Amino acid sequence: MALALFLALASLAIVVATNLHPNFYSKTCPDAELIVRSVIKKAMEVEVRAAASVMRLQFHDCFVNGCDASLLLDDTPNMLGEKLALSNINSLRSYEVIDEAKEALETTCPGIVSCADILVMAARDAVVLSGGPEWEVKLGRKDSLMASQEDSDEIMPSPRANASYLVNLFKKFNLSVKDLVALSGSHSIGEGRCFSIMFRLYNQSGSGKPDHAFNPSYKEKLDKLCPLGGDENVTVDLDTTPGIFDNQYFKDLVNGRGVLNSDQTLYTNLKTREYVEKFSVNQSEFYQAFVEGMIKLGDLQSGQPGEIRRNCRVVNFQPMLNFCPANSLLETRVCK
Ligand code: HEM
Ligand SMILES: *[C@@H]1O[C@H](CO)[C@@H](O)[C@H](O)[C@H]1NC(C)=O
Ligand SMILES: *[C@@H]1O[C@H](CO)[C@@H](O)[C@H](O)[C@H]1NC(C)=O
Ligand SMILES: *[C@@H]1O[C@H](CO)[C@@H](O)[C@H](O)[C@H]1NC(C)=O
Ligand SMILES: *[C@@H]1O[C@H](CO)[C@@H](O)[C@H](O)[C@H]1NC(C)=O
Ligand SMILES: *[C@@H]1O[C@H](CO)[C@@H](O)[C@H](O)[C@H]1NC(C)=O
Repeated sequence: MALALFLALASLAIVVATNLHPNFYSKTCPDAELIVRSVIKKAMEVEVRAAASVMRLQFHDCFVNGCDASLLLDDTPNMLGEKLALSNINSLRSYEVIDEAKEALETTCPGIVSCADILVMAARDAVVLSGGPEWEVKLGRKDSLMASQEDSDEIMPSPRANASYLVNLFKKFNLSVKDLVALSGSHSIGEGRCFSIMFRLYNQSGSGKPDHAFNPSYKEKLDKLCPLGGDENVTVDLDTTPGIFDNQYFKDLVNGRGVLNSDQTLYTNLKTREYVEKFSVNQSEFYQAFVEGMIKLGDLQSGQPGEIRRNCRVVNFQPMLNFCPANSLLETRVCK
């Protein structure tokens, strides 16, 4: 009953944050931001792509019932979480980097810094450490008590999405056309699987043909990387400079070298093309718009109660619903 009510509200109710502050931890955990940054830096020394993988987590967390680290909850016997949702399964990665940041923070200031805030700090740090813009993040989020695979499946966009669908989707989160294009510029770093582009390469919209928006020589290259019947876990760089957060992604779109349909469509569609063109010739304009978009994305909240999780993968208190032995002293405490 309570669960059904929550889900009914959750898909609709997005509240924009008013209670977040840049200095939220300045007294309670003054080194929080330094600690997160050093963990991200170390992770990138092991694998440059960790930056991209960590940054993507903010998007997948914040779009589904707000920025509340619901994404990070592992499945339990009573709850199907978001990790195995359509857009996340076999795709989201680097959860262990967030675990490391949480462990370091719990050592220094136990019970203070939320996992939701770690995601937002980590995303910013990933961009900065990849050569992108620096900005101040607002903090003070709480971690959710639950997660919803169903909501993630319903909300998160497919790589097949076209620009008009994406414009409408982002509008539901008070994100403008400019925000959509700028935030898509996050694909300036990282990789995508062949799985995400097979339809574009071989059967766009069920036509039996490739997407004609491809630059022909680029398509040839992708055909070799992602042959029909090949390993769809092979990955493709999302732009020509996948380790550097720059505006190359937009230059690539102008040249028909976008990887995902959801990328290239931003150049095909005239409303979004305007911004692709602007960002492709002016990197500081891209950086400025991207920072605005990330702050708005980080402001999304569910309005539901929360906590500071000790471990990002599990809620602090899990009621043992089946643990109610008759005539037990525990009865009044646990089974009330
Ligand atoms: C506009 C709608 C979007 C769609 C349809 C989309 C879809 C995708 C897909 C399909 C992949 C590759 C996944 C795979 O093949 O396993 C990907 C990767 C990525 N996405 Fe998005 N995305 C969108 C917006 C965003 C936003 C807003 C952000 C961050 C602010 C973001 C950050 C990333 C990053 C950094 C990667 C690379 C991850 C890695 O290398 O591990 N995306 N996205
Ligand atoms: C891709 O990798 C995942 C594990 O990450 C595996 O479960 C899946 O079967 C693989 N798919 C293919 C087509 O190899
Ligand atoms: C965009 O995608 C939506 C939903 O998949 C579809 O209904 C619409 O016809 C598409 N628009 C264009 C211009 O292709
Ligand atoms: C939506 O975004 C606009 C422009 O960024 C902002 O002025 C407005 O306060 C936002 N509305 C809500 C409900 O957050
Ligand atoms: C292309 O997609 C359509 C519609 O989904 C399907 O009917 C057709 O069999 C596919 N063709 C190939 C070659 O996969
Ligand atoms: C690029 O964009 C920045 C920030 O919006 C702006 O101040 C600058 O004038 C632009 N540069 C050019 C060459 O248009």
